[in-house]
Amino acid sequence: MKRFSGRIVLVTGAGQGIGLATAERFAAEGAHVAMADINQSVLQQAVERLNAAGYSVSSRVLDVSEAEQVDDAVRSIHQEHGAIHILANNAGIAWQEPFLDMKDDNWKRMLDVNLNGMFYVAQRVARIMKEQGGGCIINMASTNGLAGEVNYAHYNASKGGVVLLTKTMALELGRSGIRVNAVCPGYIQTPLSESIDSPETVRRYIERNIPLGKVGKPENVAGVFAFLASDDAAFITGECIVVDGGQLAY
Ligand SMILES: NC(=O)c1ccc[n+]([C@@H]2O[C@H](COP(=O)([O-])OP(=O)(O)OC[C@H]3O[C@@H](n4cnc5c(N)ncnc54)[C@H](O)[C@@H]3O)[C@@H](O)[C@H]2O)c1
Repeated sequence: MKRFSGRIVLVTGAGQGIGLATAERFAAEGAHVAMADINQSVLQQAVERLNAAGYSVSSRVLDVSEAEQVDDAVRSIHQEHGAIHILANNAGIAWQEPFLDMKDDNWKRMLDVNLNGMFYVAQRVARIMKEQGGGCIINMASTNGLAGEVNYAHYNASKGGVVLLTKTMALELGRSGIRVNAVCPGYIQTPLSESIDSPETVRRYIERNIPLGKVGKPENVAGVFAFLASDDAAFITGECIVVDGGQLAY
């Protein structure tokens, strides 16, 4: 029997990058994966590919920053499948913007998606998990939630918020059988990071910052989501697992 057979998993931001790799990993290990993303076309492509590979996946177009959309999506997934056992709360955005030039609207959008969105999804799913007697939530933070980086004040603040949201949820939900952890990736090669940095910038970044001498792959993070959701992590909650090729060891 596969490790996640019979499990219902919700992955947000599942259309590409780390979310897609995570959805694929859970599906390959036997779960049904409800894949949610704001971008209908990447989501559709991803779902078609995974269905064609024989996996059990379904799709929901969802902007996690819209509380009512989150209510509807979580309710309909629960109604359709009768449970949500695992949440990979992954959706997020990033771009560079110097602190002194930061536009209020840009600051708000970052917090709306990366922190408020994380809260809306986690809270709605946690209510269902409490009723069903337990579950597992993994929030997507970042090494940027543990240390600062120039030109990312909005992003760093959002991910720092996710780290402490995670710890507080773990405290409040542990006795309901719900484990809550965060993943803190360093530099992972995804459509998002490719949209921000040129290959030359990435090369210099690796040289200066990453002891393993390479950037991470989405699959490296997906494996940590799967570990944290598995029985091997049954006594782990309130933890933030860094997946950064050694960057924070400097
Ligand atoms: N790539 C990295 O180096 C890195 C490092 C640390 C943390 N992260 C985090 O990992 C997560 C995924 O990043 P990625 O690099 O795979 O990005 P990505 O852009 O490649 O994929 C993110 C997906 O999230 C979706 N999305 C964006 N806004 C959304 C919203 N409001 N509602 C629902 N879906 C939305 C996008 O459409 C996209 O499909 C993010 O939270 C990001 O902050 C990434």
